[in-house]
Amino acid sequence: MNFSKEDLQRRAGITNKRKLLSEGAYTGHEPFETLSPEVQDFSRALHSLIEEIEAVDYYNQRVDRTKDKELKGILEHNRDEEVEHAILILEKIRRINSVFDEKMKEYLFKKGEITDNKP
Ligand SMILES: [Fe+2]
Repeated sequence: MNFSKEDLQRRAGITNKRKLLSEGAYTGHEPFETLSPEVQDFSRALHSLIEEIEAVDYYNQRVDRTKDKELKGILEHNRDEEVEHAILILEKIRRINSVFDEKMKEYLFKKGEITDNKP
């Protein structure tokens, strides 16, 4: 799902305390335009992941609240598509950031206690 900047701000309850990436970095961080292209893209990817995860949460909450069975099915479908979007951007993050790559290999798809999987 593609949200307009205004949609995202409204949905996330974003106020002037927390600006969208397209307006620059979140308040309190370095001015976006001063960052290297690589850091800008990494930031774009991270914020895209945040937005996809937020969308999953929004849809999941609506699924929980609606009494309309057909609407529930549509919202579940939409929620699951947002999960796919999140995974796509997470894979991109893994490919461009060696620490994510290392940590994902270390912790994902293992059995047993999650924190016991350190090499
Ligand atoms: Fe999405």
